[in-house]
Amino acid sequence: MIQRNAKKNEKVKLSKESVLTSKKENGEYEQKIRPSKIDEVIGREVEKKTINMMVNSAKKRGEPVDHMLFYGPPGLGKTTFATAISNEIGSALHITSGPAIERQGDLAAIVTNLGENDVLFIDEIHRLSRTVEEILYPAMEDRVLDIVVGKGPSAKTIRLSLKPFTLIGATTNIGKLSSPMRDRFGLVQRLDYFNDEDLLKILQRAVLVWEMSFNQDALEEIAKRSRGTARVALRLLRRVRDYYESVSTKEKSVSSKIALEALDLLGVDSFGFEDIDRMILDIIWRNYSGGPVGVSTLAAAISEEEGTLMGVYEPFLMKSGFLKRTVRGRVLTEKALNYLMKTSNKK
Ligand SMILES: Nc1ncnc2c1ncn2[C@@H]1O[C@H](COP(=O)(O)OP(=O)(O)OP(=O)(O)O)[C@@H](O)[C@H]1O
Ligand SMILES: [Mg+2]
Repeated sequence: MIQRNAKKNEKVKLSKESVLTSKKENGEYEQKIRPSKIDEVIGREVEKKTINMMVNSAKKRGEPVDHMLFYGPPGLGKTTFATAISNEIGSALHITSGPAIERQGDLAAIVTNLGENDVLFIDEIHRLSRTVEEILYPAMEDRVLDIVVGKGPSAKTIRLSLKPFTLIGATTNIGKLSSPMRDRFGLVQRLDYFNDEDLLKILQRAVLVWEMSFNQDALEEIAKRSRGTARVALRLLRRVRDYYESVSTKEKSVSSKIALEALDLLGVDSFGFEDIDRMILDIIWRNYSGGPVGVSTLAAAISEEEGTLMGVYEPFLMKSGFLKRTVRGRVLTEKALNYLMKTSNKK
């Protein structure tokens, strides 16, 4: 099916860059589509209710909103919530990330520049060093910053008071966050995978904003293969549109047939799996007889960092019922074995 189109038009070539890990592509597109208010956030009804409640009551009391932590796999809305919350509060959003704050002085420079009730968003907060964490605790709890000036016997501690602010932390790896850090957030919110219905709504909104023309059944196919992830759905949408524009077709809008051809070409199967997912399953199957295999061994075998394997790929394989975590390591399920046997027969 793909070959036919490839022959018809030699230009058909889609980037097979992982739809999961790349965040940079089309930053402009992302900006345009990201919900800017809490009510514009699709799905997430319980989370929105809790957050609205916290924001509204803090506003009434004239206090800063309590610190919040969002965690979960990439592309599920952590940054989106931070943006929407700061807009809802009507304050400035300052964005930084754990690895960017190397020294205590870096954090001091950031927090002393915050305006009243501003939001400080620290992405990948689990990557803050212990020394930076230590000065963040009193900043979060008592709005003070204790900075050591000088070295050796002449070193002095200076206490600076800070304006009230809200810290929003985000992490894909909650297990790596120290428990004192975690305990200092007033809300610790897991963001789970979306259902297909909400993904469809996200796609419908995107085609309107981006002025694209898609049939409903094409969007449904994309939603189904988007591994429950908003960012993946939006990226696949753009790839399918690229494909549509590069094949000669008389269809006025993207049909499900075209969407499926594009998704096949991208190597995204009906489970939403990509090459990397199939590689993980295949390695456990062939090299470790279905498991158990330790996470570090597995990460080395697929040439990925342990954190990426645990935070990005494994959660979806587990959610799909293909992989189990046991004390002795990762193990394939019956469902995975059936899938692998079927796909290896097709090769
Ligand atoms: N509930 C939602 N409603 C509408 N769009 C959403 C929703 N959640 C996420 N999105 C869209 O999905 C994209 C990815 O979301 P976001 O950047 O917030 O993910 P993230 O959890 O911060 O990911 P990462 O861990 O990689 O930083 C954004 O462009 C945003 O527009
Ligand atoms: Mg983010």
